[in-house]
Amino acid sequence: MGQFPITRTTSPAQKPADDTLAFGKVLTDHMFLMNYEEGKGWFDPRIVPYGPLSLDPATSVLHYGQAIFDGLKAFRGDDGQIRLFRPDRHAQRFDRSARLMSMPALPVDIIRASFDALVGVDADWVPHKAGTSLYLRPTIIATDVMLGVHPSHSYLYFLILSPVGGYYKEGVKPVRILASDAHVRAVKGGTGEAKTAANYAQSLAGQQDAAAQGYTQVLYLDGVHRKYLDEVGTMNIMVRIGDEVITPPLAGTILDGVTRASVIQLLQDWGLKVSERQISIDEVMAAGRDGTLKEMWGTGTAAVVSPVGTLGYKGEDVLINKGETGELTQRLYDAIVGIHYGRTNDAHGWTSVVKVPAIA
Ligand code: COI
Repeated sequence: MGQFPITRTTSPAQKPADDTLAFGKVLTDHMFLMNYEEGKGWFDPRIVPYGPLSLDPATSVLHYGQAIFDGLKAFRGDDGQIRLFRPDRHAQRFDRSARLMSMPALPVDIIRASFDALVGVDADWVPHKAGTSLYLRPTIIATDVMLGVHPSHSYLYFLILSPVGGYYKEGVKPVRILASDAHVRAVKGGTGEAKTAANYAQSLAGQQDAAAQGYTQVLYLDGVHRKYLDEVGTMNIMVRIGDEVITPPLAGTILDGVTRASVIQLLQDWGLKVSERQISIDEVMAAGRDGTLKEMWGTGTAAVVSPVGTLGYKGEDVLINKGETGELTQRLYDAIVGIHYGRTNDAHGWTSVVKVPAIA
């Protein structure tokens, strides 16, 4: 733990009560910073008091959005241990996002170590209540001060932490999703596979449209045919038609979700049929009408496993499993959450216990 210099805050913030936690509204006392300059590489990793960054108005990320982030969680288990869920896979995905956004290779081992180090320092911030966790948000921004459009020669890595409850106001209750034929998230050759700020900026209009029509989120269709399911923007999507679970393939337009991969693995472990294949919205709506669409859920770090109770498309709503959480959705949620909190056997070694320093 002693591998990074730590400057401790002299004015620790008041911690919110666990039952008031929403998503991402409260930040902890410290943050991790590291810089990059061309010719010098990544340097000066450090933990400092949480606070504002000072940026020149001409800093390139503010204009051209060369920014990546990731999101992972730390859980306080029933045994009191703090566990990170699949931190290596998150660090690898962060590195992949960096390549896709023309950033230099990341020191993945340092990024990975920063997760443990910062959570160790702010360990008291990991909430206790069931359903809560500490969300980690590693981010890299382009810091060249220059208005020409170019891959930056300098970057800032920062890691911040937020104690969180559920992502949706519905909690784990089924959400209403609108399949949009008006909004497109990504096309092959674009940035859909990267966890980059721009993907979320461009999703806001669709989200507003969906909200105005009474839905929680948008289900994006592929950008070319406007026909095949892509993802929900804050989560990957899965449908159960009959006894087959179907989820869109990783073909360059959707995010390689860590929860998605974990859920696919669990379904395979349980001997269930899971297919990563294209599936059209027409097929899903038809299955909704004839009753073979048994369940639908989203997967994501923030959303965990979120049941979809209603799917809307072109003015028609189909109610899925009477608008209630399906049996397999619940089983997956329980299995993932059981691993998060160290309640069930972590057969695949997905969690990693954080060593909390004596003086946290
Ligand atoms: C996550 O699940 O970590 C996400 O990135 C979704 C979102 C809050 C942007």
